[in-house]
Amino acid sequence: MVSRVIPVGPFDLVIFGATGDLARRKILPGLFHRFQVGQMPDEARIIGSARSPMSQAGFRDMAGAAIRQYVPEADQAGSRLAQFLERLDYVAVDASGDGGWPELAGKLRPEAIRAFYLSVSPSLFGVIAGALQRAGMNTAESRIVVEKPFGHDLASAEALNAGLRHCFEEHQIYRIDHYLGKETVQNLMVLRFANSLYEPLWNSTHIDHVQITVAESVGVQGRGEYYDQAGAMRDMVQNHLIQLLCLTAMEPPSKFTPDAVRNEKVKVIHALEPVPSQDIVRGQYRAGGGMDSYRDHAGNPDSTTESFIALKVSIANWRWAGTPFYLRTGKRLRERVSEITVVFRDPPRMIFQGAQNLRGNALIIRLQPDEGITLRTTIKDPGPGGMRLTEVALDMSFADALGPEVRTQDAYERLIMDVIRGDQTLFMRGDEAEAAWAWADPIIAGWQDTQGVPDAYDPGGSGPEDALMLLHRDGRRWRGIGEK
Ligand code: BG6
Repeated sequence: MVSRVIPVGPFDLVIFGATGDLARRKILPGLFHRFQVGQMPDEARIIGSARSPMSQAGFRDMAGAAIRQYVPEADQAGSRLAQFLERLDYVAVDASGDGGWPELAGKLRPEAIRAFYLSVSPSLFGVIAGALQRAGMNTAESRIVVEKPFGHDLASAEALNAGLRHCFEEHQIYRIDHYLGKETVQNLMVLRFANSLYEPLWNSTHIDHVQITVAESVGVQGRGEYYDQAGAMRDMVQNHLIQLLCLTAMEPPSKFTPDAVRNEKVKVIHALEPVPSQDIVRGQYRAGGGMDSYRDHAGNPDSTTESFIALKVSIANWRWAGTPFYLRTGKRLRERVSEITVVFRDPPRMIFQGAQNLRGNALIIRLQPDEGITLRTTIKDPGPGGMRLTEVALDMSFADALGPEVRTQDAYERLIMDVIRGDQTLFMRGDEAEAAWAWADPIIAGWQDTQGVPDAYDPGGSGPEDALMLLHRDGRRWRGIGEK
């Protein structure tokens, strides 16, 4: 494993909701990885906290089991798990009551960086922030980290912001959108702003349209109750897809600082046009292939929540006027694929015959699973038969290009270390979250007002037929889900 880590300073990280799913699947394994590669100083301490009483040894056992379960075996080689677990402690805290706060305060070192990670229901964000403040735990070196969902509409997001800002300054608040921690999502900024090749073409003069697809093969089983209240628009579009759109569409920031980057992203969100109902397709997976339907998973036989959505989005600014962004995301689709496809305009005049079936130049940025970049290029079909044209992919997979020893870190590893470093670049600012809701709310209200019912689609495909039509009617077509 290549070590290019920059160690962080001593810290106390308190995880509220430390026995929950996110802590076991992502936060603790992520911290363990950072410990393994030597990023975590000897003085780092992780204090788990939840309502139920548990001994320090009990918490260490639980964390050890989670790490053995969720960290790939290859990354456990030469493991220093026992040394990592020594950094763990536990305090039972009743988040909405008085119990446990003085004990927690007693565990924290006055001089160390403090991070309070709220892996709990958003209804507790303000409550916990207030209790930390009252117990004198909010020092100048404190940060508070919150998870999505950050509200379910503008009003609730404003209330969450108000609750947090009542006790913490904006520069102390870290709102996680884990897509921003993904290696290839960060690469999007490097691709655009560290190469001179793309920028001259990165506008509506040269780009016909952009497609952003986040397809998942899993359904919503196990979390149907939450999901049925949210749907794909709230669960994925308002946050992850809008973030991808912002990074693709934003102007170059004048410097790479948290506020310079976030200012540019907010400007994009403010420039998003309202989306008319004819530019929206909602879908819901039906049963098939021996698998249950969305309604079975949601436990709601009458549900009209969408497990798929496709939208045509326009950005009203000089760079993008006339270049639509087509977004789509859904559950139970053919494959798990996230990619951004930037489709360039055709040459102004084609001098070769037989170009009708070509799709034209496109830059495909694959975020997962096989991270990389592909440039679709037109070439001469080799051999005799005249000047026949064909398309090939100039294909770069990061794994091949950078070597197998470079491990792609999980988003949470990067984000937690950024919290400790005090770098907010990859976190949503309060106004950004609110702006995204201000755009999403009328879209959701539109189908609620008309009591719209999503189109049923077969599992294992690419969503409802109408989603394909959304592009066909504009003379365009989606890149296939999983297309090579
Ligand atoms: C979460 C959503 O934020 O992102 C889930 O709530 C979704 O519904 C998940 O499955 C997708 O994340 P990833 O990293 O697997 O693409």
